[in-house]
Amino acid sequence: MSTAISPTAYNYKVVRQFAIMTVVWGILGMGLGVFIASQLVWPELNFGLPWTTFGRLRPLHTNLVIFAFGGCALFATSYYVVQRTCQTRLISDSLAAFTFWGWQAVIVGAIVTLPLGYTTTKEYAELEWPLAILLAIVWVTYGLVFFGTITKRKTKHIYVGNWFYGAFIVVTAMLHIVNHASLPVSLFKSYSAYAGATDAMIQWWYGHNAVGFFLTTGFLGMMYYFVPKQAERPIYSYRLSIVHFWALITLYIWAGPHHLHYTALPDWAQSLGMAMSIILLAPSWGGMINGMMTLSGAWHKLRTDPILRFLVVSLAFYGMSTFEGPMMAIKTVNSLSHYTDWTIGHVHAGALGWVAMISIGAIYHMIPKLFGRAQMHSIGLINTHFWLATIGTVLYIASMWVNGITQGLMWRAINDDGTLTYSFVEALQASHPGFIVRALGGAFFASGMLFMAYNVWRTVRASNPAEAKAAEQIAVVGAH
Ligand code: HEM
Ligand code: HEM
Repeated sequence: MSTAISPTAYNYKVVRQFAIMTVVWGILGMGLGVFIASQLVWPELNFGLPWTTFGRLRPLHTNLVIFAFGGCALFATSYYVVQRTCQTRLISDSLAAFTFWGWQAVIVGAIVTLPLGYTTTKEYAELEWPLAILLAIVWVTYGLVFFGTITKRKTKHIYVGNWFYGAFIVVTAMLHIVNHASLPVSLFKSYSAYAGATDAMIQWWYGHNAVGFFLTTGFLGMMYYFVPKQAERPIYSYRLSIVHFWALITLYIWAGPHHLHYTALPDWAQSLGMAMSIILLAPSWGGMINGMMTLSGAWHKLRTDPILRFLVVSLAFYGMSTFEGPMMAIKTVNSLSHYTDWTIGHVHAGALGWVAMISIGAIYHMIPKLFGRAQMHSIGLINTHFWLATIGTVLYIASMWVNGITQGLMWRAINDDGTLTYSFVEALQASHPGFIVRALGGAFFASGMLFMAYNVWRTVRASNPAEAKAAEQIAVVGAH
């Protein structure tokens, strides 16, 4: 019987494809991040060409790191986790393959259209309507594969990691479809169906929940599987994980207006967004604590296991950024932080420290299992990667805190006669050292990805097809 269609084997092919592409897109997206960070240090790197300007490459960076790198990590891990925790093969190999190729097509579409200047202008939703429709079709198919697999599970209950993945899939579909409602006027130009303050509110309802469901809930699904697996300990509290789930998804959806403080949005909506953001600290930390405490009795493993270090340090950064976020949502704090590099620092505390680190840990955990190896080619290189990533993240966020607070204070400083103390350019000059440190931190982080690529390549090359096939066999119930 061919394993490609065997119901007694997992479909690891699609997991392998997404896992490898996570590394590829990670290198490209973060490499581009280093490039645009360098443009802020040396503006000559814009080359005077429209395609290579900061304004066009910045959205390409965000699309590549969020949707290509983060998205492939989420596809890979969710397909792996849903099969193993449900002890069954994906419901359809061809639909799963369609999600892989469709997703890569959307990313290639972004790489072509964004530098050419085709954009809806909505942050994180820049792709014009033909690509947005393709993305919606791929996403709905993803939902069919994921939930279809859950319906044919061999286990009685649905493991909590799948709840988080499931919520992430459903809400992302809802956000994407509602925010992209628009009127196309040509092949590459459309106008939003909403206008004025309503458009802004819908956009930040989308934007914030892209953070909440794409960059958080999906990765929490990852956390609930890979932290216990790598620590070889059961999750600290299953009850807390259920409370955490319902509290998180109930609260996140209301917090979007904190992106629109002091704008034309009605004041009550801004205050509601602020209040909900502060309450959001509780479930966020509930999840973080649940993950951390899973290591009870296994802390010593951190000394020898760099994969576990990636996973645990990602939780620490998750805790930090979800403390910082509610603080920044307070209107008076936001009046200082908004428009400054503080926001950029907050973003990357979450993006590098949490999203990228947990993905990297999960990929290192999966690669040997997907390719029938006992472990990665080099544990030493994983350790090197860990330190490059940690030092890179700290350099990035610390420099942006200094820059952000400097900018905020300089912009609001006024003389006795009411005139501004500093011109904008003076604040920019004061930011230059921070830009250099950020580019350096980014280069550290991105170079760690090159070590990862080499390590993955050596592990895959050592793979024996028979062993890889044997690894696909579904283990007996209870052994996931
Ligand atoms: C080597 C690593 C990285 C570097 C050097 C880097 C650099 C940058 C730079 C220079 C910007 C523009 C900042 C500005 O406009 O002033 C930016 C924006 C952004 N990056 Fe990164 N980045 C990296 C990795 C990532 C990763 C892994 C993610 C997500 C998973 C991410 C998500 C974002 C987002 C969401 C923004 C837009 C922030 C906003 O509009 O407030 N970045 N990045
Ligand atoms: C309880 C959790 C969180 C809260 C309440 C929160 C709150 C905030 C606030 C107030 C801002 C600044 C809005 C502005 O002034 O424009 C912000 C920006 C942002 N946050 Fe968070 N944050 C949280 C967690 C996270 C996490 C974990 C991540 C990433 C994984 C993240 C990613 C972002 C991004 C990408 C932006 C920039 C959006 C933009 O302007 O383009 N946040 N967040």
